[in-house]
Amino acid sequence: MNKKIRIGVLGTANIAMRSVVPILNSLKDKFEFIGVATRDPSKVDYPDYNIVKGYDALIEQTNLDAVYIPLPNAMHYEWVKKSLKKGLHVLVEKSLACNYEEVKELNFLAKEKNLVLLENFQFRTHSQLKTIREILDNGVIGKIRILRSTFCFPPFPDKTNIRYRKDLGGGALLDAGAYPVRLSQLLLGKELEVTSAVLNFDEDLGVDIWGGAFLKQKNGSLFSQIAFGFDNYYQCNLEVVGSKGKLYTNRIFTAKEDFTPTLFLETNSEGLKEVNLKDDNHFKNMLIYFYTCILGDSINREEEYDNNISQAYLLQELRSKAIES
Ligand SMILES: NC(=O)c1ccc[n+]([C@@H]2O[C@H](COP(=O)([O-])OP(=O)(O)OC[C@H]3O[C@@H](n4cnc5c(N)ncnc54)[C@H](OP(=O)(O)O)[C@@H]3O)[C@@H](O)[C@H]2O)c1
Repeated sequence: MNKKIRIGVLGTANIAMRSVVPILNSLKDKFEFIGVATRDPSKVDYPDYNIVKGYDALIEQTNLDAVYIPLPNAMHYEWVKKSLKKGLHVLVEKSLACNYEEVKELNFLAKEKNLVLLENFQFRTHSQLKTIREILDNGVIGKIRILRSTFCFPPFPDKTNIRYRKDLGGGALLDAGAYPVRLSQLLLGKELEVTSAVLNFDEDLGVDIWGGAFLKQKNGSLFSQIAFGFDNYYQCNLEVVGSKGKLYTNRIFTAKEDFTPTLFLETNSEGLKEVNLKDDNHFKNMLIYFYTCILGDSINREEEYDNNISQAYLLQELRSKAIES
């Protein structure tokens, strides 16, 4: 695999310019970074990058293989679809689109065109998750009995934040809740169902501000309790309680490269241990995984279509259960 993927970015989003683009630009053996498109170049100040006026102008270029789409959630459907139609591989921010039907359609299109469509849950690629899986698989805490995960933040000071905008696909479920839903599938398998859920809405904004759900295996008895929100004490954790012990970590989704994650491991035999895990750069790992999906065989692509669709299905189920309750 020595081909360079020519990649462009749609929008000067915070997450793109702070975390993803600098790494993209540094992975010079894998990516040729073509530039960033913006609605208004006069408002951006990135002298080191090629700035393109308008998202269409970027994807119209013939020198592209792939795009990274960090636009507000409600714009993902339009720009993922346009990009796939142009024959481009897509790395798109979570949540992939605002409803199940859109996600299905986009994945069918990607499959038809044999293109990668990857939702950017970079925590999946952090080595702490691998360690946690090994601990669970090796029976260190016995058999899994309860999985709990929470991703919550205090209110955003800027009331114009895209997360408060209904028209832009805001709301805590698509932004924060998507993470513990994805994590539940990673640890308990994709075949989950939502048995109950709560979403609390801000009536003026029309978006969900906090909530939670109970997810259960369809063909098994394991379950997870998840919570998420924008009006909460900061939480970013995973707790797994087993028959003989438990593990807990408090930065499961946002362990950046300069952060050493700590695992609190408690067992009948050894009591409570604090285990310092390795620092890792999950943004870099995710970009390398995207590269591998593009240039490797089609197994990863197929698996990612499935991942994307089952994630969207659970989010939709959570929404409908919350409305019923
Ligand atoms: N994976 C992660 O760790 C992570 C972390 C944070 C956010 N995210 C996801 O990344 C996406 C962007 O989040 P963010 O917080 O980085 O957003 P943001 O800073 O508000 O950026 C959104 C960008 O979208 C473009 N845009 C186009 N139309 C817009 C409109 N009407 N209003 C506002 N912006 C508009 C703007 O780019 P131009 O003005 O340059 O065109 C803007 O810079 C979301 O899907 C979010 O869920 C992922």
